[in-house]
Amino acid sequence: MRVAVLPGDGIGPEIVAQACKVLKKLDGRIQLQEAAVGGAGYAAAGDPLPPATLALAKEADAILFGAVGDPRYDTLERAKRPEQAILGLRKALGLFANLRPARVFPELAASSSLRAELVAGLDLLIVRELTGDIYFGQPKGIREKGGSKGAEREGFDTMLYSESEVRRIARVAFEAAQRRSRRVCSVDKANVLETSQLWREVLIQESKNYGDVELSHMYVDNCAMQLVRNPKQFDVIVTGNLFGDILSDEASMLTGSIGMLPSASLDARGKGLYEPVHGSAPDIAGRGVANPLATILSAAMMLRYSLKQPEAAARIETAVAKVLRAGLRTADIQAPGGKALGTEEMGDAVVAAL
Ligand code: IPM
Ligand code: MG
Repeated sequence: MRVAVLPGDGIGPEIVAQACKVLKKLDGRIQLQEAAVGGAGYAAAGDPLPPATLALAKEADAILFGAVGDPRYDTLERAKRPEQAILGLRKALGLFANLRPARVFPELAASSSLRAELVAGLDLLIVRELTGDIYFGQPKGIREKGGSKGAEREGFDTMLYSESEVRRIARVAFEAAQRRSRRVCSVDKANVLETSQLWREVLIQESKNYGDVELSHMYVDNCAMQLVRNPKQFDVIVTGNLFGDILSDEASMLTGSIGMLPSASLDARGKGLYEPVHGSAPDIAGRGVANPLATILSAAMMLRYSLKQPEAAARIETAVAKVLRAGLRTADIQAPGGKALGTEEMGDAVVAAL
C-alpha cells in the first residue's frame, strides 16, 4: 500500500508527522512517500501543485493531506495561490464526495461553543459535493464593466451543477444514511437559485431508489441556524460545494474544536484524499501546539475507506478516545488553567494508547 503524504503549509507538516507516526506504528507495510504542495510547492517548484506531486498522488492508493494556505502568498495571482493545490487535486483525481463527520467525544462536550446538553451525543455527517458548483464554474477574472476605461471593475463566478453531478453525490449520501440513522437532509437555496432547484428535483428522483431512507429539504440559511439551535436533529446532510464548505466549519465547532474533525474526499472507486477539516493555521505554525487529532483521525478514515483495514481504523479511533478519557488535551480543547500537551506529545500519547 502506497500513501502519498502531502503536508503542505503552516501547521501541516507538524500534524501530518504525528499521523505518519501512528500509521507506522500500526502497520509497517504502509509505504509513505512525501511531496511538496501548496505554498511549499510554490516555494520548491514555482507551482502550488507541482507535476511530480500530482503524479505521486495519482499513483498512490491514498493521499494523506495536511493543509495549504500561507499569508506570504496571498497576493499571488489566483492560479499560483496555495489553495489551488487542493482544488486541483480534487478536480484532477475526481474526488467529488467529501465526507465530513462531526461527532462529539463525550469528554469534549463541555468544550463546545454550545451548551453541553445540546451537543452531547451529536453524530452527524456532512456529505459535501466537492468538484462542482461555484468553485469550478467558468471564471472570467475581475474585469472592467462595460468595457470603457475608468469604469468600475466586476468579479464574476458562475454556479453550475449538472444532473449527473447531483445524482452521484445524492447516492453517496443515501448510501451513507443506510449505514446510519437513515435520514438525509438536503440543503440548498431552491427559493432563489436555479442550480438548487435542479439539485432538489434530482434528490427527490434519486430518493425513490432508497425507500428506506427519509429525505427532507432545508434552505441553507435555515440550516446554518438549525445547526446551532438543535444540531442533533440531523443525521446526514447533503449539500453543494460552497454551502458544504461553510456548514462544515460551523458544524466542526459544535464538537469542541475544529482541531478534532477528519475528512475523506472520495472518487467513484473509493480512492481518496484524507485531510483535517481545519486549515494551515499560520498564527500557530511552527510552535508545536497544534492539535494533531483531526489528522490522526483522517488517517483512520483512510484505513477504513481506501486501504480496507476497518479494524486498524477502529484501533486508532479507540486510541484517540482513550487519550481523551485520560484527560490529555492540546491547547484548543483544554479548559482554561489546565496544562496543555504539544503536538508531538499528543501524537506520542496516541501511539502509546495504541
Ligand atoms: C476546505 C477549505 C478549502 C475549500 C480551501 C482551502 C480551498 O476551506 O477544504 O474546506 O474551500 O474547500
Ligand atoms: Mg473550508
